[in-house]
Amino acid sequence: MLTLLVLTTLASLAVTSPVLPSQTWPPAFCNKLECPKYTMVKSTKDYEERIYDAAKWTSTVVSGMEYNTAVSEGFMKLFSYIEGNNKKKVTIPMTAPVATKVEHGQGPYCKTNFTVSFFVPFADQASPPEPSTSDVFTNPLPQMTAFVKSFGGFASETDWTDTAKALAKSLDNATVSYHKDFYYTAGYNSPFQLFDRHNEVWFIKKD
Ligand SMILES: *[C@@H]1O[C@H](CO)[C@@H](O)[C@H](O)[C@H]1NC(C)=O
Ligand SMILES: *[C@@H]1O[C@H](CO)[C@@H](O)[C@H](O)[C@H]1NC(C)=O
Repeated sequence: MLTLLVLTTLASLAVTSPVLPSQTWPPAFCNKLECPKYTMVKSTKDYEERIYDAAKWTSTVVSGMEYNTAVSEGFMKLFSYIEGNNKKKVTIPMTAPVATKVEHGQGPYCKTNFTVSFFVPFADQASPPEPSTSDVFTNPLPQMTAFVKSFGGFASETDWTDTAKALAKSLDNATVSYHKDFYYTAGYNSPFQLFDRHNEVWFIKKD
């Protein structure tokens, strides 16, 4: 009985995502928008290690050569979905970040798959409004550990790839095991925000 109690207590502690004392929620870079919950595992001068809770995202895949073109196309589809182009015809609040999974093709002329995603607001996590077009879909992501490198300003395609390379170098030096065949870019600001812009690249830890 006591064992059961202890186990139950431990289990409930484990799921409540302890937040480090210095960490306030939501982080300032979420700009008062809802954003996915994470627990900070550690912070080094080169990157942060965060455990993201399992959560649903709304996604669309754009295959192409150029990051900005592909992400704009994906963004417009998802924006249309939250503006009411869904089966319930409801408006869904904007969240942060716009996360894009980047999977490069193997050869020099191979297309890259860009999976552009909006985080589903907490109120809709249990049952996200169903998209009304087949190229937009609800995308449940499992709990995952992300290695995160942040930078400011308006991110160019080179900024994203340079940051991904620098992060990979730090992770290789730290001999951590992570998925090398894809990474995420996360943008937190609208194009109209000129200052205090926040961008992140995520590599995902291999379990
Ligand atoms: C991109 O997606 C297509 C369709 O799902 C798949 O056949 C292809 O292998 C993917 N390419 C990469 C580089 O992941
Ligand atoms: C590589 O890792 C070592 C210790 O693990 C650290 O002292 C050093 O600063 C790292 N070098 C780079 C370039 O990150």
